[in-house]
Amino acid sequence: MTKVLRSGIEPPKVKLVTEVWGPIKSLMAARRNILEIIPEAATKQPIVSGRTGGVRWHMVMDPKAIGRILNENLDIYPKSDVTKNLLKPAIGDSMFIAEGAHWRWQRRAASPVFTHRNIANLAPIMSAAADTTCARINTADDTVDMYEEMVAATFEVISNVTFSGSGAMGSDAVHNAINRYIDQTARVSLFDILGLPGWIPRPSRIFQPNALKQMKRIANDAIKKRKENGAKPVPDLLDLLLEGEDPETKRKMEMAELRDNLLTFIVAGHETTALTLSWALYLCAFDPEVQEKLRTEARSVLQGRVATADDCAALPYTEQVIKEALRLYPPAAFISRTIQADDMLCGRDIKRKDTVMLPIYALHRHHDLWDRPDQFDPERFADGHKPERYSYLPFGGGPRICIGAQFAMIEAKIILATLIARYGFERIADRDPKPVMVLTLRPEGGVPLKVTRL
Ligand code: HEM
Repeated sequence: MTKVLRSGIEPPKVKLVTEVWGPIKSLMAARRNILEIIPEAATKQPIVSGRTGGVRWHMVMDPKAIGRILNENLDIYPKSDVTKNLLKPAIGDSMFIAEGAHWRWQRRAASPVFTHRNIANLAPIMSAAADTTCARINTADDTVDMYEEMVAATFEVISNVTFSGSGAMGSDAVHNAINRYIDQTARVSLFDILGLPGWIPRPSRIFQPNALKQMKRIANDAIKKRKENGAKPVPDLLDLLLEGEDPETKRKMEMAELRDNLLTFIVAGHETTALTLSWALYLCAFDPEVQEKLRTEARSVLQGRVATADDCAALPYTEQVIKEALRLYPPAAFISRTIQADDMLCGRDIKRKDTVMLPIYALHRHHDLWDRPDQFDPERFADGHKPERYSYLPFGGGPRICIGAQFAMIEAKIILATLIARYGFERIADRDPKPVMVLTLRPEGGVPLKVTRL
C-alpha cells in the first residue's frame, strides 16, 4: 500500500471518453489530442476493443496480455507497417523499426554502447548541460518556461554525444541541422503511428526532403571524418557504435546503418528526456513538500556542485520523483503494433491485421494496478519498490525495451538534482500545463514556472 497524499489534489490529467463516439467525433478529438480518444474504461478494464474508420483496434491494459505482446509472442506483434513506412525516410531501417533477424543483430551490436561504464564516461556532457542551463536561468526573468529549457539542455547532450566535433562543418552547423531534423520528425502524425487508414486527413505528414538530405549528408561526413581521425578522447555514441559488433554473426554496421541508428538515438532520446524533466519540475512545483524533500537530498549530496554520474546512487528520492513523473506523464504514452497472426488476449479473439495499442497513459493510471492512480506520490517507488511486471512501461518492455533507458535516467537525475539544489520552482496561477499527445506526451502551453535563485 502506498502513502496517501496529504492534499488529495491531482495534477492535470486528460479528460477521458465516457460515452460511445462515432468515427468523426473520435477523429476530431484525436486530431486535437490523441489521448482524448482513450475511453475511461481503459483505466478500469483489462481490454477495450472498437472499430474506427474500418480498422479494428484493441487497447490492452492487462499486464499478462501485455507480456504476451511485448515478450512471449513478440514475433507476431511487430510495429505497425504505417509506423515503419513513415519513419523510414528519417531513420532508415534502423533498430527502432527493423524486425526479426535484422533487428536482432543491430540490437546485439549496439547493446555494449549503453553499458553503465560508457554512459558514466559520457555523463560529464550531461553535467555540463546542467551547468549551462543554470547559467541561462541566472540571466532570465522570474518566469521561465522550463519545457523550453529542458529541450535546450537535452539537445545539448544528444548533439554532443552523436555527431559533434567530427565534421568539416562547425558545431553550430551540425546543431542547426540536427535541430531542423528533429523539428521534422516531431511532426509525424499520430494517426500514422496508430495505423489508421490513408483517407483520413493527416496534419503535416510529409518530411521536407531537403532537411533530411542535409542531415544525412552531415552525418555521413561526420562518420567518415571520425573513421579517418580516430575516436574522441572520451568515446561518444558514434565511436562506440563504430566499434560495435554483433557477437553472434560478427557483423558490424556500415556507414548508412551507423548513421540511421545515430539519427534514431537523436529522435528517440532527445525530446523524451526533455519531457520527463519538464513534467518532473512541474510536479515539484505542484507539490512543494516533495520539492523540499528532493532539495534536501540534492543539497546534502552535491554540496553546491553540479551533479555527476557518481552522485546518482546517492540520489534515490530523485529517482523516485522521476519514476513517478514517468508514470503520470509517460512521454511515449501510446505504443502500437499490427498483429500478424490470430491470437487471443484476455479471452478475446484478436485477428490478423488488427491494431493493438498499449495506452501506457491509461495503464499507468489503471485502478486495479495503482492506488489513487491520478495522484502524484513518489513514495510508490520508495525503497526500490517495483510495480507488477508489465504494469509500468515508460520505456516499453520485453526484448525491445528502450535501449537508452539508463542513459535517460542518469541524464534526468543529473539535471534535476542540479536544478532543484539551486532554484525554487513555483506554479503560476492558471498556467498549469495540459497534457497533450502529439507524437509524445507534451505540456500544452509549456511549463512556465516562477524560478527563484536560492
Ligand atoms: C525518458 C526518455 C525515454 C523514453 C520515455 C523512451 C521510451 C521508449 C519506448 C517506450 C520505447 C519502446 C517503443 C516500442 O516498443 O514501440 C523505446 C525504444 C527505443 N529507444 Fe527510448 N526512450 C527514452 C530515451 C531514449 C534514449 C536516450 C535513447 C538513445 C540514446 C533511446 C533510444 C531508443 C531506441 C533505439 C529504441 C528502439 C529499441 C529497439 O526496438 O530495440 N531512447 N524508447
